[in-house]
Amino acid sequence: MYLTREEEKIYDGEWGWAYQVSMKILVRLGDLFGATKLIPIKSAHISGVSYKTLGDAPIDFLEALARTNAKVQVPSTLNPSSFDPAYLAKNFPQEYRARQLSITNLYKKMDVKPVFTCTPYYIHKPQPNSHLAWAESSAVMYANSVLGAWTNREGGPSALAAALIGKTPNYGVHQAENRRADVLVKVEVNLRNQMEYGVLGIHVGKLLKDKIPVFDGLSNYTNDCLKQLGAGLASSGMSTMFRYKKSDADRKLETISIQAENIENTIESLSTTFEVPDLVFIGCPHCSLNEVRNVAQALKGRKVRKEAKLWVCTSRHVKGKAEEYVKIIEKAGGHVLCDTCAVVTWINKLGINSMMTNSAKTAYYAPTLNRVNVRLASLDQCVNTACVKE
Ligand code: F3S
Repeated sequence: MYLTREEEKIYDGEWGWAYQVSMKILVRLGDLFGATKLIPIKSAHISGVSYKTLGDAPIDFLEALARTNAKVQVPSTLNPSSFDPAYLAKNFPQEYRARQLSITNLYKKMDVKPVFTCTPYYIHKPQPNSHLAWAESSAVMYANSVLGAWTNREGGPSALAAALIGKTPNYGVHQAENRRADVLVKVEVNLRNQMEYGVLGIHVGKLLKDKIPVFDGLSNYTNDCLKQLGAGLASSGMSTMFRYKKSDADRKLETISIQAENIENTIESLSTTFEVPDLVFIGCPHCSLNEVRNVAQALKGRKVRKEAKLWVCTSRHVKGKAEEYVKIIEKAGGHVLCDTCAVVTWINKLGINSMMTNSAKTAYYAPTLNRVNVRLASLDQCVNTACVKE
C-alpha cells in the first residue's frame, strides 16, 4: 500500500506510539484487503464501549493509547455503554460502574464524543459520498444504503485507529465498483411493519452472507423500516450495504424471491417463548424521534402493568427533542433510557428472563448474548402486552 511521506513518518513512530500502532493497524488491514492508499475520512464511530460486551481485556490497550495524549483527528462518536446513569446504574455493582466509567474516560481523553448511541446519524447526518470509518454494523448499513455515505464495516480497534489517523484504507465499499448489487431480491409479500422489515433482513442476510442485495417490491416503507432491514441483514450476514430501488442493470442479476412464508417462518424461528415477558423492549437500533412518537401514541391514556417493564431506548440527543412524547411514555409507566440498550446491559442481573421486542436484531442476539427467551412482535403487540388490559 502506498504511503505518503508523512504517513511513513507516522508508521516509523515519529508522532509517537499511539499513532504508530494505529497506522500499523490500518496498513495491515489495507494490505490484507488490497487497498492502494489511505483516504481521508469525515468521521469515525467506535464500538467496543459497553463493559458488559467488552470485558477487561481491551482496557489495557485503551489505557496505553490514552496515556500518550493522542487525540482523534476527525469527529468521532461512541456506541452505547452498559448502562444509563439515571435508571440502571444503581442496580449494578460499584465495580462494574467504575470499570464502565474508566472505559468512557479513556475514550474522552482521546476526544471521542461520548454520545453512546448506535444511531449517530440522528445527531450528525453524514453527507452523501463522504468517506467514513464506522463500526456498529446497523449504522454502517444505514450510512451506506440510506444516507449514501461510504464506510466499510469496521471493528472497534480499526475505527479507533482510523479516528486517530483521520484516514482509512481505500478497499471494500470505499471503491465504487464494490458498491454494485450482487443479487436481486424480489419481495413478493407486503411487509406490514418495521418488525417485518427487520425479519426480511435476517432472512436475506442468512442466504446472501456478504453479498449486496438490491430489493425489488418494497412499498410504503419509511427510513425506520430501512433501518430495521439493514440491522437485520447485518446481524445474520456480513454485508455492508443494500439497495432498495432497482435499476435496469439489475435485471440480469441472480434473483431470489421472498414469499410470505419466509417471513412467517423467520418470525417463528426468532421467537423462543410465548410466555408473558418480564421486559418489553423497543429501540434496537436506538429510536428515531418518529419511533419515540409512535410509542407515545400507542401508549396514550394507557398504563404499563405493574409486573412488567417497558423500555424505550434512544440517544440523549433524540430524547432531548422528544420531551412531550417522553412525558407520555413515563406517565404510562414506561422508561425512556439513554446511553444503552437491553442487549449491551446485564438484563439477567435485573431479574429479566424473557423479553418481547419489535427488533429482529435483538431477537437474533439476545438468547445467546443475554441468555433470555425472546418473543418477536410488532410495536402494537409489544405495547398491548406491556399494558393493563382495557
Ligand atoms: Fe444498538 Fe443495542 Fe441494537 S447497541 S443496534 S440497540 S443491540
